[in-house]
Amino acid sequence: MSLRDRIAELEAELRKAEARTAEEVERFRVAMLGRNGAVTELFARFRQVGAEEKRELGQRLNRLKQDAQARWEELRQGVDDSRPPKACEEGDPTRPAALDPIGGAHPIGLVRDRIVEVFRGIGFTVSQGPEVEDDHHNFSALNFPPDHPARDMQDTFFVEGGKEHSLRTHTSSVQVRVMESTAPPIRTISPGRVYRNEAISARAHAMFHQVEGLYVDKDVSFAELKGTLDHFVKTLFGPGMGIRMRPSYFPFTEPSAEVDMNCTICGGDGCAVCKQSGWVEIMGCGMVDPAVLANCGIDPTIWSGFAFGMGVERIAQLMYRVPDLRLYWENDMRFLEQFRDGTFRT
Ligand code: PHE
Repeated sequence: MSLRDRIAELEAELRKAEARTAEEVERFRVAMLGRNGAVTELFARFRQVGAEEKRELGQRLNRLKQDAQARWEELRQGVDDSRPPKACEEGDPTRPAALDPIGGAHPIGLVRDRIVEVFRGIGFTVSQGPEVEDDHHNFSALNFPPDHPARDMQDTFFVEGGKEHSLRTHTSSVQVRVMESTAPPIRTISPGRVYRNEAISARAHAMFHQVEGLYVDKDVSFAELKGTLDHFVKTLFGPGMGIRMRPSYFPFTEPSAEVDMNCTICGGDGCAVCKQSGWVEIMGCGMVDPAVLANCGIDPTIWSGFAFGMGVERIAQLMYRVPDLRLYWENDMRFLEQFRDGTFRT
């Protein structure tokens, strides 16, 4: 089991721990915090964690230890019959506070991290950019000419004071920034929040999350694009899952395709989510249009590339079978608590 999963497991165990006698309290202490205790053991494993995860896992591990100590203190007080009478105890301002773990992982964050991990595993770096974008990075550099009807595909929220700035409608804008500032070869993914002026419903939201990918190298082929996306789906959903591609159109890729994967909800039999087809659309992709490379200062006679972009909410829906997108943003504790321990289940 990964260190991350083990931490989540112990967090859940701590919350459930109970003790009725002083011996049981001591057994809890030894099992968690003793020299060979579960928490202590994780600190030994932590030494092998890679640099990129050290900071996050280190913080979680320290918090786990603090929580275990606080829980032990609570259990001890619960069975301590030498303690002062209740009234006196309640009035004791020097009594240590019982620490309640606060907050928890959000499903969209969990799924985004998993998507990022799959691509990091095959050599992609992670890039980020601003949410308020200029016309150049969100549209022009990506081959959307002024007043081109393709701009209507992405119902844009403009920022006050003209059409020069908007909330980014996709994280392709980040890839323009990477191409402008980095010499190829490039392998990067851009996770982030994006905005479109859509009526909010079970299937659409005005704010959602994307992970877009970009690969630029010499002689990049469509077969590599297909292989990469197939690897992604199989890693995330299991080896039995596959993709199919349908021709499509995006201003910044040529040729372009829409990618479907086997429906995880019905397993291919047909259901409401896949509209009885057995397939669900999960992303757009294509070979980067040479004009886009040129707009970003990359010589298209030497370099070629592929790009893809997916919605995190859609992937999460297929993973957790969430029937209504709005659930993600209503902050209903009954929904959120199901993901609280940060465990990732499919
Ligand atoms: N940017 C596209 C969107 O937001 C997705 C996409 C990315 C399509 C890369 C093709 C290539 O809809």
